[in-house]
Amino acid sequence: MPRAVPSSGKALVRYLDLDDSERIAEIDRQLTGQLRPEYWRDQIFQCKAGRGISVGAEVDGRLVGYMMGSFRGGEFGLPQEVAWVEHLGVEPEWRGRGIGAMMAEAVFKRCRRRGIETAYTLVGVHDETIHTFFRALGFRQVPFTCLSRRL
Ligand SMILES: CC(C)(COP(=O)(O)OP(=O)(O)OC[C@H]1O[C@@H](n2cnc3c(N)ncnc32)[C@H](O)[C@@H]1OP(=O)(O)O)[C@@H](O)C(=O)NCCC(=O)NCCS
Repeated sequence: MPRAVPSSGKALVRYLDLDDSERIAEIDRQLTGQLRPEYWRDQIFQCKAGRGISVGAEVDGRLVGYMMGSFRGGEFGLPQEVAWVEHLGVEPEWRGRGIGAMMAEAVFKRCRRRGIETAYTLVGVHDETIHTFFRALGFRQVPFTCLSRRL
């Protein structure tokens, strides 16, 4: 039987705590196939230590999405402190209800309060959903090239 889904207006966006790491790991496992609660615990720990921002979206008291980013300055020739959005995920059944956009607004608000003026992210060229999502949030391509080599 299809589940009644509340509108995004009923989703609550809040900062993540260390206790959320197992739930985030579950959502991440649906996206990546990897189960890594310690990794997420460390990511949230770094944010709580002031090196980034991590938020989650709750519906009826259950986390259904997360977004995390770090505050970085001085890398890649970027002079000022900027924000890098590095992780995001919304459980498949909750997508398309504005939850990702709500979490992004919370992240940007926190960054602006810190005086950060620019956010960056990396998106795979073939990942159209994530491209469209970030473009809808106002992100535009910038003249950087991502380079890699096998070691
Ligand atoms: C990308 C993602 C976070 C979007 O979350 P969401 O809550 O569904 O997004 P929203 O409902 O807030 O959508 C905001 C905007 O993004 C765009 N968008 C979102 N999903 C889209 C899709 N499937 N196709 C096209 N555009 C999309 C739309 O422009 C949308 O605005 P609109 O509804 O007014 O048209 C979600 O699809 C997801 O978790 N994807 C998997 C992420 C992933 O693979 N993470 C692991 C690597 S980091």
